[in-house]
Amino acid sequence: MQIIDEIREWVTIKKYTDEKIEPEILERILDAGIRAPSAKNRQPWRFIACTGDSVRSKIMDAAYGQDHVGSAPVIIAACTTNIEYKMPNGQISYPIDISMAVSFMMIQARAEKLGTCVVTTYDEAEIKDILSVPYSMRVVMLLIVGHPDEDPILTKRKLKSRVIAHEHW
Ligand SMILES: Cc1cc2nc3c(=O)[nH]c(=O)nc-3n(C[C@H](O)[C@H](O)[C@H](O)COP(=O)(O)O)c2cc1C
Repeated sequence: MQIIDEIREWVTIKKYTDEKIEPEILERILDAGIRAPSAKNRQPWRFIACTGDSVRSKIMDAAYGQDHVGSAPVIIAACTTNIEYKMPNGQISYPIDISMAVSFMMIQARAEKLGTCVVTTYDEAEIKDILSVPYSMRVVMLLIVGHPDEDPILTKRKLKSRVIAHEHW
């Protein structure tokens, strides 16, 4: 038994073909996200799936014109509905909760033979305006999804011995 392929061969995809994503596949990706765990199961999220040409083009502009953002047939804006809740350890929960959900979506997308890229390089105020996100909410990240048009080499990771410890730091 190895780590599942979707994780072992994980790589971000930034080039996509013109092929659209079937609505039922998009639905499965979104469903995977909302199965993710969250602090106290509060699920402080709202995912805005964007497939229309016009809205995607506006989002690309708000993401400083990054080509891969414009070329992906699906952009999911992962938003939070609560920016204040702190977990018992004193940390703010929403970036963690949203990241959990987006990770689940990425793995589902990969299992569907699709590529994804997390995008955080954007003008949040502009994205909020484009997607009518309420003032008090936040767009935590964008997840772009599409059919891969590249086969990038695996990215390196730090040595296991540097990042994993047992019993103490
Ligand atoms: C929190 C986070 C933010 C990221 N922001 C961006 C981004 O704004 N633009 C982009 O092209 N890639 C972005 N990425 C993708 C990373 O650059 C990529 O995951 C990293 O270089 C490792 O490559 P890999 O995913 O192929 O292993 C982001 C990834 C994460 C997890």
